[in-house]
This record gives sequence, structure tokens and C-alpha cells, in this order.
Amino acid sequence: MGRIHSLSSTSALLWFVLVLYNISDVYGNAEGDALYAFKKHLHDPYDVLQSWNRTLVNPCTWFHVTCNNENSVVRVDLGSANLTGQLVSQLGQLVNLQYLELYDNNISGKIPIQLGNLTNLVSLDLYQNKLGGHIPETLGKLQKLRVLRLNSNALTRTIPYSLTTITTLQVLDLSSNRLSGYVPNNGSFSRFTPISFANNPKLILPAVVPLAPAPAPAPMNS
Ligand SMILES: *[C@@H]1O[C@H](CO)[C@@H](O)[C@H](O)[C@H]1NC(C)=O
Ligand SMILES: *[C@@H]1O[C@H](CO)[C@@H](O)[C@H](O)[C@H]1NC(C)=O
Ligand SMILES: *[C@@H]1O[C@H](CO)[C@@H](O)[C@H](O)[C@H]1NC(C)=O
Ligand SMILES: *[C@@H]1O[C@H](CO)[C@@H](O)[C@H](O)[C@H]1NC(C)=O
Ligand SMILES: *[C@@H]1O[C@H](CO)[C@@H](O)[C@H](O)[C@H]1NC(C)=O
Repeated sequence: MGRIHSLSSTSALLWFVLVLYNISDVYGNAEGDALYAFKKHLHDPYDVLQSWNRTLVNPCTWFHVTCNNENSVVRVDLGSANLTGQLVSQLGQLVNLQYLELYDNNISGKIPIQLGNLTNLVSLDLYQNKLGGHIPETLGKLQKLRVLRLNSNALTRTIPYSLTTITTLQVLDLSSNRLSGYVPNNGSFSRFTPISFANNPKLILPAVVPLAPAPAPAPMNS
């Protein structure tokens, strides 16, 4: 009886350990899969992503990837890495991501609407690439975002009003694109100056209050 009891509790423990292991494995692999899908859409002439090896349990030991204590990805740092290719919708699965740094590469295609699922994002830096299409409305869901730099790409269409609801936004750079329509000036956008929107020939800045007429020049000599 005692022996049976201890046997069954041993197998219960074994079962529990196995379940736990599988959960962490699946969890780790889901984020590893997402990043690996991204790697598959990139051309990487300098082998910057060499350590992104799919056979590892999770992506936490990969270069340019940082995880938290729960082995969940919080940073992807691939600025100035000479990468060419596209962003993938799977990036939206990195639910704990805080920093997505992909500036100064040659990444083209569109910004996936799924990036709006990265609700813990603090910094989204996609500047100096070749991104086209429009700025997704879904980026307004990034309610912890402090830095949004999409400048020096080929983004078109209007700036979504959803971005004005991001109260945490401190740095915004949408300059040097092909945006059009009106620049919002309400919500968080009341903080930003025309510098944030420069070099978008078809963009219309909010009407500026005209300066008071200059005072009549004083007589030269009196
Ligand atoms: C990935 O890791 C496995 C196991 O450590 C190794 O055999 C394999 O060569 C690695 N693949 C690449 C592309 O580095
Ligand atoms: C990117 O390419 C330049 C040369 O075109 C090279 O000097 C630089 O080291 C490369 N960067 C990386 C991260 O490999
Ligand atoms: C992007 O590609 C162009 C050529 O298409 C090249 O001149 C430039 O150095 C590349 N930039 C980066 C950061 O890889
Ligand atoms: C991610 O975003 C897309 C489009 O915004 C949405 O359809 C999808 O349900 C989201 N996925 C998750 C897991 O939240
Ligand atoms: C700014 O104005 C637009 C259009 O009227 C609206 O959709 C948006 O919610 C407003 N933003 C804030 C923060 O009130």
C-alpha cells in the first residue's frame, strides 16, 4: 500500500515535471519560431544571424536577442546589421517585447499590422530602411510606446489618428517619407514640432497661428 502510494506519487511528480518542461519548451519555441520566421525572410550577407539556430530550446542565447527571467524575448537589437528582406507578421507574437531595433538596414515591404499586438513595446525603431505601404492603424494599440521612429523610409498615405492616443509617446520621427494628408495635432501629437514630419512633400501641417503684423519701422532719425 505504502509502496504503491509512493510509486504513484513518484509518477505524478514525473508527469508534472514533464508537463512543466513541455510548457516551457513550447513557450520558448513559439518565440524562437517567430524570430526564425523573420530570419527566413532576411538576406544576411554578414552572417549577423548565424547564432539564430532553430535547434536550441529557446532564442535567449541568440546574439541580438535579450530575454527576461521567464525566457521570453524583451529586446531585438539589429540596427545597422546590413539586413535586406521583409518584416513578418510572426513578430507580433513576441508579446513581451519592449525594444524592436531594426534601424539602418535595407528592409523593404510593409509594416505588418500584427506589430500592434506588441503592447509592451517601449521603442519601435524602423528608421532608415526601405519600408513602403502605410503606417498601420493598429500601432495605436502600443500604449506603452515612448519612442516611434519610422523616418527615412518610403511610407505613404495618411498618419493614423490612433497614434495620437499614445499618451506615453516622447519621441516621434516620421520625417523623410511619402506621407500625405493632414498631420494630427491633438492628443500626444500636440507635443511634436514640424521637425517630426519634415521632408514629406505631400503632408499638410496644421495651420500655424499667423504672427502678429510687424510693427511699423521706427523713423531712422528723429
Ligand atoms: C545548430 O546547432 C546544432 C546543435 O548544436 C548544430 O549541430 C548545428 O550545426 C547548428 N546549426 C547551425 C546552422 O549553426
Ligand atoms: C555592414 O557592411 C559594412 C560594409 O558595407 C561593414 O563595414 C560592416 O561591418 C557591416 N556591419 C555588420 C554588422 O556586419
Ligand atoms: C542598402 O542597399 C544599397 C544598395 O541597394 C546600398 O548602397 C546600401 O549600402 C545598403 N545599406 C545598408 C544599411 O545595408
Ligand atoms: C494580432 O493582430 C492581428 C491584427 O491586428 C489580429 O487579427 C490578431 O488576432 C492578433 N493576434 C493576437 C494573438 O493577439
Ligand atoms: C484626435 O482627433 C481624431 C479625429 O478627430 C480622433 O479620432 C482621435 O481620437 C483624437 N485623439 C485624441 C487623443 O483625442
